[in-house]
Amino acid sequence: MLKEISVSELQFNPMTKIAKEWMLVTAGNEQRGYNTMTASWGHLGSLWNAPTAICYVRPQRYTKEFIDREDYYTLCFFPEEYHKALGYLGSHSGRDEDKVAKVGLTPVFGEGYTYFEEAELVLVCRTLYQAPLKAEYFRDTGVMDAMYPEKDFHDLYIGAIEQVLARE
Ligand SMILES: Cc1cc2nc3c(=O)[nH]c(=O)nc-3n(C[C@H](O)[C@H](O)[C@H](O)COP(=O)(O)O)c2cc1C
Repeated sequence: MLKEISVSELQFNPMTKIAKEWMLVTAGNEQRGYNTMTASWGHLGSLWNAPTAICYVRPQRYTKEFIDREDYYTLCFFPEEYHKALGYLGSHSGRDEDKVAKVGLTPVFGEGYTYFEEAELVLVCRTLYQAPLKAEYFRDTGVMDAMYPEKDFHDLYIGAIEQVLARE
């Protein structure tokens, strides 16, 4: 069972949680459809007097169409046993198959957002700001050359964390 908690109750290292455990970025809902993808780049913190999350999505991701269209996205974190499933969701596109059914995750539809029953932590985020990373703003062009040989710069999405659901 997931239960609502406050952001102040969260206790983890965001660096290792995102980079090593990974998360699912999901947008959409039951009526309009949804999609999800694995992400290991992101930030959790504070901006504009609100607890905020940032995720980074490359233009070619199918999930991007849903985040662009919707007001909300969710970040879902899972127990270790789902790591392989996240690997699959991060290497296959929802354009080509029902990858969620394939890995056996169960979508839960909220008001305008979707998360997964198997998650141990869900951050429901309302998108406040979206912007593409741009070549001219890189102060370290080595990073740019290494990360974007195809110049497929991520869009970043700053979301206000409006709800936190955690496993009891
Ligand atoms: C561990 C891992 C981390 C990833 N992190 C990101 C990320 O932060 N941003 C991104 O755009 N893609 C990331 N990806 C790639 C997407 O998850 C992948 O391209 C996925 O298949 C896109 O699915 P979609 O087309 O259904 O949206 C990651 C993949 C893996 C395996």
